[in-house]
Amino acid sequence: MFDFFKSETNNNNENNKKRGRENENENENTFENKKTKMEIKTEDFGSGGAALLGATNGMNGAMVINPGEKSNTLGGQTVGHYANRDMHLRKQEEDGELQWKVIKNDGNEQHSIWLIALKNIFSKQLPNMPKEYIVRLVFDPRHHSMLCLKNDVVIGGITYRPFWRQNMCEIAFCAISANEQVKGYGTRLMNHLKEYVKEEEDMTHLITFADNNAVGYFSKQGFTKDIVMEREKWVGYIKEYDGGTIMECALEAQISYVDFPKNIRAQRECVEAKVREMTTAHVVYPGLTRFKDGGEFGKHRITDPLSTIKGLKEAKWKAPDPPRYRLVHPGCVDGYPTIENLHKFMRSIVAIVKTHPDSWPFISAVNKEEVPDYYEVVKDPTDIESVSERLESENYYVTLEMFAADFKRMFENCRLYNAVDTIYYKCANRLELFFDAKIAAGITFKVREAGSYLNR
Ligand code: ACO
Repeated sequence: MFDFFKSETNNNNENNKKRGRENENENENTFENKKTKMEIKTEDFGSGGAALLGATNGMNGAMVINPGEKSNTLGGQTVGHYANRDMHLRKQEEDGELQWKVIKNDGNEQHSIWLIALKNIFSKQLPNMPKEYIVRLVFDPRHHSMLCLKNDVVIGGITYRPFWRQNMCEIAFCAISANEQVKGYGTRLMNHLKEYVKEEEDMTHLITFADNNAVGYFSKQGFTKDIVMEREKWVGYIKEYDGGTIMECALEAQISYVDFPKNIRAQRECVEAKVREMTTAHVVYPGLTRFKDGGEFGKHRITDPLSTIKGLKEAKWKAPDPPRYRLVHPGCVDGYPTIENLHKFMRSIVAIVKTHPDSWPFISAVNKEEVPDYYEVVKDPTDIESVSERLESENYYVTLEMFAADFKRMFENCRLYNAVDTIYYKCANRLELFFDAKIAAGITFKVREAGSYLNR
């Protein structure tokens, strides 16, 4: 079975000797090993688009993509599940459980066995790709393969072709076996590849013809659809295909891709330490207990927050200026916006809003049975009944702004969920105008008109 490989390798050896290059067969291109390069004729085409045809097996029933999660590319790096995953894989590397090797078809029997295993993974994971084509490229001595070995078993890899003169590599195939996907191996593999080709092969760019299903993965690895590399470097080398996307990743000389998450973690710790030095935001005081037992109106009001609530002073909190408006609502005696006066005014507003002919959509909470997706769209719902409950608790609305904000949110929710031409949308607009008018009619900023509060 290995005759084919041997004959390929022998030819290759001959060529290399002729070119006076190092014998590439002797060692695997592990990270420690010396750089090996091959001459590529300019008329040779790359294997571009190879994976394009086959990468429909991307999810394999095992892949769950969470669109809300943050990117792990350079730009959007966060230290979260990605860094934790990476730490776990580093530990596997340290324990010798996980290994990365760069090999090619060089006649070494072990390499051939590994390449067959990798070829099988590609065939399975890229089911639309002709198997012969995969075999041809994986065993083409001009192609290199970075293997991911877990307990000495190949669980994935990347086959790529270096274009030495252009300092650019074309990724032909990239896959992780189905039962090992979404565990971070794909990311670690790409990071090792970047580090290896940058350090050992003097490459400055990776380029690939990504299957549309895999564009998300490549984007997270820092590949972009904008090709900034000079056209003459890749046009004519990378064959273009319809239905896939050519993507590029520029390699930064000063970045250690393998240590990247570790470095980010260290930077984050450093920034956090500095923030802790300069602020008190990390100091957490025990919560207030006074509200626990409920109680009668006014009982829990805090008259001197700065001395009663720990941390306020440290946070440089200042009591807000007293309200500049006064209430001109009947029964609000001196018009000063005390809690009692405010609640009288708010109750009258709720009562009058309820009687308005456009209030019917807002009286109570939207029924989930009747509008199943409402609460998926509206994340912070409210209605007049809920506002009334808050009002009746007598502890909730301590300013008129809080009360008006709940109404405002109610109208905005309605306009968010409903289309402009619906009755609901129009009701929201009309009722809001009515609400605003009633609030405006109940307050004045000309304090003297408000009553005798100035004599208090
Ligand atoms: N589309 C969108 N996002 C993806 C995809 C995808 N197809 N695959 C992985 N991701 C995301 C992951 O959710 C993860 O996101 P997160 O960091 O925000 O959590 C991130 O990319 C990396 O995930 P890993 O666990 O590191 O990747 P994994 O080990 O699963 O390997 C790979 C990714 C190689 C694409 C694997 O899923 C696979 O073998 N797929 C089938 C073959 C394939 O499509 N190969 C690429 C074809 S194109 C080409 O070879 C040039």
